[in-house]
Amino acid sequence: MGYRVAVVGATGNVGREMLNILHERQFPVTEVVALASKRSVGREVSFGDKNLKVKALEDFNFTGTDFALFSAGGSVSAKYAPIAASQGAIVIDNSSHFRMDPDVPLVVPEVNPEAAAGYTRKNIIANPNCSTAQLVVALKPLHDVATIKRVVVSTYQSTSGAGNAAMDELFTQTKGIYVNDAPTPDKFTKQIAFNVIPHIDVFMDDRYTKEEWKMMVETKKIVDSAIKLTATCVRVPTFVGHAESVNIEFENELSADRAREILREAPGIMVVDNPEENGYITPVECVGDYATFISRIRDDATIENGINLWCVSDNLRKGAALNTVQIAELVGREYLKKAA
Ligand code: A2P
Repeated sequence: MGYRVAVVGATGNVGREMLNILHERQFPVTEVVALASKRSVGREVSFGDKNLKVKALEDFNFTGTDFALFSAGGSVSAKYAPIAASQGAIVIDNSSHFRMDPDVPLVVPEVNPEAAAGYTRKNIIANPNCSTAQLVVALKPLHDVATIKRVVVSTYQSTSGAGNAAMDELFTQTKGIYVNDAPTPDKFTKQIAFNVIPHIDVFMDDRYTKEEWKMMVETKKIVDSAIKLTATCVRVPTFVGHAESVNIEFENELSADRAREILREAPGIMVVDNPEENGYITPVECVGDYATFISRIRDDATIENGINLWCVSDNLRKGAALNTVQIAELVGREYLKKAA
């Protein structure tokens, strides 16, 4: 017994990781369907040692599909996720389109698995923003012990978060700069090669970016609406792996040493924190891993109960495809019980 799964956006960065992760984790499938735009019809994508022929989303009927995993951008989700859901598929959506809908649960299985039960309201579950996913995995076990009051986070986000074409832009621009022939920015607002850009998603009326707003509201929805969070989100010239510098203020006393012990035991987390031996994780070292890596845990002496830490994870995995597959596993296990 197994599930019929459709991957929407199967030719994209996240869609390809979804196929890899479904296979790696031996998600019980009877059939996997790869969907993308009409442009990609006939292209092949790998699923384990098989190749799947890509079909057009717009011609596809989801009847008989158990899970539809969407990662093709907000406008595609807005149009097609409700169609897939009405045809009976449980949609797990990577875009930001449904995340703040009160009838759509926003789920990180290590943090708020119980929220997944709400999928029945619209047959849709949302996956958080990549930077939020790794952050809340780190915050939740600390919040349970010492109650978080406020978080100040700065992100160092890789270009893969902006899609395939954005990674290509970093590559060609970097090469071009060496020969004085760099193409002008297209996917990014400014030069990304040898630079950093404090602008991800659009600017909002309060002068924050939408990416920064998402981290704030999504953390509240997933962990606790009482947590105050302020963010600065920055695109950096890396290909895969998002890093975050996180300052956390607690209601109750919590030392860095105790936080390290708690995080060592927490699900989804790997603590690597041994500065004497360069024991900290950088984005290139997290690529292909499932874990959220926590390093450089230290007391913040400027506030009564506070710590700083460094948090790194593969944005295409925990930040997107892995979390999506984990949600499907959770729903399958707890609610559908189809797989033996
Ligand atoms: P396609 O390759 O056919 O354009 P990324 O974010 O890595 O660039 O990937 C985006 C994914 O979303 C791709 O798989 C892309 O397919 C898919 N996509 C984009 N627009 C549509 C659409 N209108 N219908 C279906 N899939 C789409």
